[in-house]
Amino acid sequence: MRHTVPAGMERKESDVYLRLDRARLPQHIAIIMDGNGRWARRRHMPRVAGHRAGVAAVRSTVETAARIGIPALTLYAFSEENWKKRPKTEVDFLMRLLCRYLKAEIRTLNGNNIRLKYIGRQHELPESVQREMAEASEATSGNTGMLLTLALNYSARSEIVDAFRSLAEAASRNGGLGHMEVDEQAISDHLYTRGLPDPDLVIRTSGEMRLSNFLLWQLAYAEIYVTQTLWPDFRGAQLLEGIEEYQKRDRRYGGLGQDGHGPHREHAEAKR
Ligand code: FPP
Repeated sequence: MRHTVPAGMERKESDVYLRLDRARLPQHIAIIMDGNGRWARRRHMPRVAGHRAGVAAVRSTVETAARIGIPALTLYAFSEENWKKRPKTEVDFLMRLLCRYLKAEIRTLNGNNIRLKYIGRQHELPESVQREMAEASEATSGNTGMLLTLALNYSARSEIVDAFRSLAEAASRNGGLGHMEVDEQAISDHLYTRGLPDPDLVIRTSGEMRLSNFLLWQLAYAEIYVTQTLWPDFRGAQLLEGIEEYQKRDRRYGGLGQDGHGPHREHAEAKR
């Protein structure tokens, strides 16, 4: 059955959208935005020009995800390693770009009923940036549509360390460490992403095959989609292509596929 295309969708996007099964959209998509520097280098521009161009990709991706009804989108904007290992001028530029984005985007986020949150060690960011972040999330807190999470100064290993610290502190408040209950649910409940479903799909741009310390616990069963497109060239249409590819996968969660066979059905049958 053909379905209607959300208002404002471009031709290329609507072509892919019409091929999607709307009943099987991923409930949470995570994206590793990569390739800004290479995009700039190919154009003989400074690296920061790639970051600036990356904002248009963020805007388009967020709007398309919200329009088609994705409940949660998480973008890896800035890792703890980026913060520590990149030149100060580049880090300062990224901070200014983020503040500008947060200010400029509140209206569009509200127009699309999007709630904004963050994961990462926010308290280590400059205070002026923290203030801007708090204002933007406060201004969108009444929205009920998609949850947009920006990973800023984020590291999955630090998140797991923080979760264990938080578990231990909770236990010592409640009768001591002897009362500490550790199971998968308890760990999930102490991660920055508590309350969010694990991502069904993780997208990485620019062709690299790494998770780069992103949501290591939460991505345990996610489908991975890697595109050669560099982040500044990524748009809603490419997001929909990623979802289309996701819908072709047979998710097994360690069990057998929907046809009752494991991954190597053809090989097994050929040998018989
Ligand atoms: C990776 O490209 C990208 C980043 C470290 C920064 C991501 C920032 C943006 C997309 C723009 C601002 C974001 C928001 C949310 C407003 P890279 O520099 O590692 O690229 P390279 O691998 O080609 O060098």
